[in-house]
Amino acid sequence: MRLEGKVAIVTGAARGIGRGIAQRLAEEGAKIVIADILTAEAEETAQLIQRQGGQALSLTVDVTIKHLVDEMVQHTLQTYGQLDILVNNAGVMGRKHLVDITEDEWDRMVDVNMKGVFLASQAAVRHFLQEGVSGKIINIASVEAEIAFPDQVHYAASKAGVAMLTKAMAYDLGPLGINVNAVGPGTVDSHGRLAQDPERLLRYHALIPKKRVAVPRDIASAVTFLASDDADYITGHILYVDGGMLTH
Ligand SMILES: NC(=O)c1ccc[n+]([C@@H]2O[C@H](COP(=O)([O-])OP(=O)(O)OC[C@H]3O[C@@H](n4cnc5c(N)ncnc54)[C@H](O)[C@@H]3O)[C@@H](O)[C@H]2O)c1
Repeated sequence: MRLEGKVAIVTGAARGIGRGIAQRLAEEGAKIVIADILTAEAEETAQLIQRQGGQALSLTVDVTIKHLVDEMVQHTLQTYGQLDILVNNAGVMGRKHLVDITEDEWDRMVDVNMKGVFLASQAAVRHFLQEGVSGKIINIASVEAEIAFPDQVHYAASKAGVAMLTKAMAYDLGPLGINVNAVGPGTVDSHGRLAQDPERLLRYHALIPKKRVAVPRDIASAVTFLASDDADYITGHILYVDGGMLTH
């Protein structure tokens, strides 16, 4: 119970990696706010946590809309009376050749993946500073902040932005007692679909020294560590959880 007495917001926790993070933080004793555009699935995550004996609340939030993000923090404070941890996990992915990416697709990618991190962090940090909270922010980046894969220029650029946003926020917020780190997943079987596609799995295994793709719990374990007191002296770090993908 490393997070007993803490309150965490996890964005994009209606499904996939975010759901895994929310469940894992709840197992460690944190009360969880699940913020996502998918209302029904977000509520499902909350109920899963409640059935496991945890406390969770689901909110419908689009992280690109400032007043909804500000309300997310207010709602958290009204419900649980505090906020200690923010996990910026909400993200969109997409594969398209550079010449086919529309302006709207570029804008959405950058808005959700980068502006969403900025808006939620700003709202949380205002609260941390007001109440003197030594808050923890954990952003979900990607190995694509470091290496390119085909047809993902907009995604890769947005995740490189998340990596630098992490370092720049850590620099500014370190003196104020707030830690900002990122977890950079490699390939994650977010919904269990990859496990059913042996040919695709083999193609991924060729890139991964550990010879398996990640599951949401692998990412959640790293987030839990960075959210805990064990990581008090770690800030501005991007922890790649990639089975060794970035070794070559
Ligand atoms: N799956 C992978 O292999 C992988 C690898 C590296 C990084 N990541 C990152 O991990 C995070 C989670 O990915 P996932 O695989 O679970 O994907 P996913 O699509 O299953 O989950 C993303 C969640 O974010 C939510 N979301 C999207 N736009 C939103 C918005 N505007 N406001 C609020 N919520 C929004 C979605 O509704 C969804 O619940 C993303 O940031 C992704 O870029 C994933």
